[in-house]
Amino acid sequence: MPVPGPGYSITVRVEAPPSASAAGDLTGAAGRAGAVITAFDVVESHSDRIVVDITANAHSSDHAEEITAALEELPGVSVRKVSDRTFLIHLGGKIEIASKVQLRNRDDLSRAYTPGVARISQAIAKNPADARRLTIKRNTVAVVTDGSAVLGLGNIGPSAALPVMEGKAALFKKFAGVDAWPICLDTQDTEEIIRTVQLIAPVYGGINLEDIAAPRCFEIEARLRELLDIPVFHDDQHGTAIVVVGALRNALRVVGKDMADAKIVVCGAGAAGSAIIRLLLQKGPRDIIAVDVNGIVHPDRGDLDPNLTWLAQNTNRDLVTGKLTDALADADVFIGVSAPNLFGAEAVATMAKDAIVFALANPDPEIDPLEAQKHAAVVATGRSDYPNQINNVLAFPGVFRGLLDAQARGITDTMLLAAADAIADVVDGDRLNASFIVPSVFDSAVAPAVAEAVARAAAG
Ligand SMILES: NC(=O)c1ccc[n+]([C@@H]2O[C@H](COP(=O)([O-])OP(=O)(O)OC[C@H]3O[C@@H](n4cnc5c(N)ncnc54)[C@H](O)[C@@H]3O)[C@@H](O)[C@H]2O)c1
Repeated sequence: MPVPGPGYSITVRVEAPPSASAAGDLTGAAGRAGAVITAFDVVESHSDRIVVDITANAHSSDHAEEITAALEELPGVSVRKVSDRTFLIHLGGKIEIASKVQLRNRDDLSRAYTPGVARISQAIAKNPADARRLTIKRNTVAVVTDGSAVLGLGNIGPSAALPVMEGKAALFKKFAGVDAWPICLDTQDTEEIIRTVQLIAPVYGGINLEDIAAPRCFEIEARLRELLDIPVFHDDQHGTAIVVVGALRNALRVVGKDMADAKIVVCGAGAAGSAIIRLLLQKGPRDIIAVDVNGIVHPDRGDLDPNLTWLAQNTNRDLVTGKLTDALADADVFIGVSAPNLFGAEAVATMAKDAIVFALANPDPEIDPLEAQKHAAVVATGRSDYPNQINNVLAFPGVFRGLLDAQARGITDTMLLAAADAIADVVDGDRLNASFIVPSVFDSAVAPAVAEAVARAAAG
C-alpha cells in the first residue's frame, strides 16, 4: 500500500458553511479518504461562508482527486481550486543565475564589463590556464543529458529531462556550493553528444553526465575523458558505485566480515551495476558474480557486448552459470541495480549467514525490504522511507567540490575510492549499526569530508 507523501501534496481551496463543525467535517472527510493533512488555513471569513485552504499529502494523482471529491460531497461545500504543490514549485524553473558583483554605477560597469573586462580577456588569451582563476570555470559544472534514461521514466527526451537536471543543479549548489547548469541535448547520437560536450567544455570545470542510457554512456564518458582536460563523471555509474562501496564497507563491519572473504552477487550489469563491479574489484573481494536479464554473466554466454565481455573476464572465478537464485546460494552480499520484485525471502535464506542485501532498484526494489529482513543481517534500498538509503546525493556534490578545489584535470578510481571511504567514515563506530550504515543525505559533514578526500587524492 503506497504511503501519502509530499511528492503528491495538494492544496484544496473550498467554500464551506460557517458552522462550528466545519473544520471537523472537512478534515474528517479528507482523512477518511486517506489524506494526511499538513495544514488548515481559513483564508476568508463571511457571515454566510468561510473559505479554507486544506493542504494534504496524497499517494498518487488519482488519490488527490478522490480526496477532492470527498470534500465536494459534504453538504454546502464547494471546491474552488486545487493546487498541486509539486507543480507550483516548478513554475518558471527551480534555479536562476545571479550576479556576484554589484552594478550600481559607471565605475562598477567599467570594471565588470567594458572597458575593464578586456584586460581579463587579454590575460586569458595569453595564458588560457587563467580561465580557471578569473572566470566561472573555477566553480561551474555542466549537467549533461540526452534524456534517454531519466529516473525510472526511460527515454523521455531532453525537454522532459530538464526538471530533473534543474533539481540536480539545485542539489549541487545546496550541498557543495557548486554552480551547475543543465545542458539537455536534442540528440541521442553518440558522436553528436561527444562533439557538443567538447565544444561547450571551455566554460566548465567539470562535466557531470546524467541519465544517458547504457551502453552508449560508457563510450561517451571514455571518449570525453580522453578529449577533455577537465573531469568527466557519469553520476549514474560512479556516484552510485561510490555510495555502494562506502555502504558495503560499513555493512561488512556490522556483520564482522572481511571484503577479502566476501562472495558478492551484483544483479544488473548496466550503467550502475558495471561501475559498482569495477570499483568493488579494486577492493579485492573473494569473488563477484554479475547477473543481468539473461542470467549469470560468464564467458561462454553467446550474447556478450564489450562491457559484458569485460565483466565475464574479470568476475565469476568459478565460472558459475544459471539464474540469479543460483548465484545467491552461499553469497555474503547481494547488490541489486536491476528490476523490481525478482526474489523473495526464501532466496535470501540460501545466502550465507549474516547476509547483506542492497536492493536498490527504484522505486520498487528487487526484494521487499521487509521480506529481505527475515533472513538478512543488513538491508539497504534506494528509498527514503526505509533505513540505509543508498543515495547518490551522498557522493556527487562533494566529489565535484573536491575536483574543482583541486583544479583537477581528470578523475581516477583512487579519487572514487577516497570518496567512498570518506562517506563510510562519517558514520563513526558509536553510531554504526545494521540500520545506520550510511549517513543521512542532510548530514552536513558528508560533502566537506568527500570534497577533502577527493582533493587530497587529486593532489597526489
Ligand atoms: N538507489 C540508487 O542509488 C540507485 C542508483 C543507480 C541506479 N539505481 C536503480 O538501479 C536500476 C538500474 O539502473 P541502471 O541505470 O544501471 O539501468 P540500466 O538500464 O543501465 O541497467 C539495468 C540492468 O538490469 C538488468 N536487468 C533488467 N531486468 C532484470 C531482471 N529481471 N533480472 C536481472 N537483471 C535484470 C539489465 O540486463 C541491465 O543489466 C534502476 O532501477 C535504478 O533506479 C538505483
